[in-house]
Amino acid sequence: MTKLVTALVVTFGLTCSLSADGAAAYKKCSACHGTTGEKSALGKSKVINTMTKAEIVTALSGYKDGSYGGPMKAMMKGQVASLSDADIQSIADMVGK
Ligand code: HEC
Repeated sequence: MTKLVTALVVTFGLTCSLSADGAAAYKKCSACHGTTGEKSALGKSKVINTMTKAEIVTALSGYKDGSYGGPMKAMMKGQVASLSDADIQSIADMVGK
C-alpha cells in the first residue's frame, strides 16, 4: 500500500512539473508563435501546432546543433540555445499534436 501511494505521488508530481515546465519554457515563444502555437512566426515559420511532437523535437534540436532550419534559423538558434532536451520534450508535448 505504501508503495502504491508513493508511486501515485511520484507520478502525479512528475506529470504536474512536466506540464508546468513546458508552459514556462514556452512562454517566451508565444510572442512570435502564438499562445498555443497557432501563428506563423513573423509570417515565416510553419504553424507549429500543426506539427507532430516528433517534428518539433527534430526542429528544436536541429536549431540547437545547426542541422535544421530555413533562412531565419539564426533567430531560432538564440531561442533554443538555453533549452535542455527535457525542456524541448516538454514544449513538444505541450504544443505538438
Ligand atoms: C522572435 C520570434 C521568435 C521567437 C521568440 C521564437 N521563434 Fe520559433 N521561429 C521563428 C521563425 C522566424 C522561425 C522560422 C525560422 C527558419 O527560417 O527556420 C521559427 C521556427 C520555429 C520552428 C520550426 C517551424 C518550421 O517552420 O520549420 C519551431 C518548432 C519553433 N520555431 C519553435 C519555437 C519555440 C519552442 C520557441 C521558444 C523557445 C520559439 N520558437 C521562439 C521565430 C521565433
